[in-house]
Amino acid sequence: MGRFLIEGGKKLEGEVKVSGAKNAVLPILAGTVLSQGECRIGRVPKLRDVKVMKEVLESLGAVVKEENDEMVVDSSNLDSYEIADSLMRKMRATVFLMGPLVARFGQVKISQPGGCSIGPRPIDLHLKGLKALGVEFVQKHGCLEGKAKNLKGAEIHLDFPSVGATENIMMAATRAKGKTVIYNAAREPEIVDLQNFLNRLGAKVRGAGTDVIKIKGVDKLKSIDYQVIPDRIEAGTFLVASAITKGDLIVNDIIPEHIESVIAKLVEAGVNLQVDGDKIRVKGNISWDGVNIKTLPYPGFATDMQAQLMTFLSIAKGTSVVTETIFENRLKHADELRRMGANIKIEGNSAIVQGVNKLSGTTVEATDLRAGAALVLAGLAAEGETIVENIYHIDRGYERLTEKLSNLGAQISRTD
Ligand code: UD1
Repeated sequence: MGRFLIEGGKKLEGEVKVSGAKNAVLPILAGTVLSQGECRIGRVPKLRDVKVMKEVLESLGAVVKEENDEMVVDSSNLDSYEIADSLMRKMRATVFLMGPLVARFGQVKISQPGGCSIGPRPIDLHLKGLKALGVEFVQKHGCLEGKAKNLKGAEIHLDFPSVGATENIMMAATRAKGKTVIYNAAREPEIVDLQNFLNRLGAKVRGAGTDVIKIKGVDKLKSIDYQVIPDRIEAGTFLVASAITKGDLIVNDIIPEHIESVIAKLVEAGVNLQVDGDKIRVKGNISWDGVNIKTLPYPGFATDMQAQLMTFLSIAKGTSVVTETIFENRLKHADELRRMGANIKIEGNSAIVQGVNKLSGTTVEATDLRAGAALVLAGLAAEGETIVENIYHIDRGYERLTEKLSNLGAQISRTD
């Protein structure tokens, strides 16, 4: 298992460019299944999850080529609607293929996804939406098989604005007969990116970014070029990295509107942050104040930035309360931060963070992707050496992290 070795206390300085968004590129790559031809996707980050999605597409019969940061997917000769259990287990996001596969083949077969370290993660909303479009599901021997003679547009009310369910339904509905309306849809920027991609393919999708999305089914989707949006979570992680190391960092290629809730919290804590077009400069202060955070669906505070902010708040002045409302079990990093000297008490789905003067390096374990990022941030700020274990989680979502951080002056290396 790989690990990072970090010698803390170095200020991060200079400029860094944000990569393409993991959570946008995964559904978009799944969406290439809808095209009967070639899609050239730009700004594709080299991440473990993207590699798995490529393997899945190839297993379905797609021809996938990588050219620098572009991925060219030719789905003309897809010949399978079944995702192998071994691939499903590698990445939950393979679930995004349900919608595109039923749209393409009228059939899909996957193994029933299980829970993961941050919660049980059911897919009932995905299934509810697809059933409304006419897909019938049978579950047996751990497999989930869906069949639809004809997909038909429907009005779907989501009980919760699930990102994945919204995306799956949008993609299936592009080929359904008639009109589909998704109420209480997720509003994340990645949903807007998926809409833009689908419309370039020739779909008729409107309303992404609001809680009502309307899709008019079409008969055929074509080949296109498309560029993925920048990763707002990677961007937010670098902003915190600058603040927490009292550095002076310019983060380039950002869409600031996508991380307004993070910017607002950093400013509230007293961080010196300037937005200039698609750049944000963070000049770290000597100290900062505690703030309260509650994760919510977009445009609320992103659950994917919660762990990183907890690290930041663990050395803030005063007390902060961090409340996680999206996932049931996403406060595990608190245990690891405590091992580094943080004073954090868990009460239900909240963490009461009493700021301490400093963290001290030790060996900690990444329990999931963003928890891992939070520990890297802790290591950058801590006194002495921090070893972060199980970094395969971090590889799922941060492209060339050691290289990017080293270029900014961090002392970080990896052993695999
Ligand atoms: C996506 C993101 C993930 C982010 C999350 C919330 C990708 C690849 N991943 O995950 O990084 O943390 O959005 O912003 O885009 N739920 C149900 N039933 C369902 C679906 C979801 O109960 O059918 C629950 C989940 O268990 C969870 C909550 O809804 O508690 C949010 O999940 P959802 O918005 O679906 O997240 P994902 O799409 O899995």
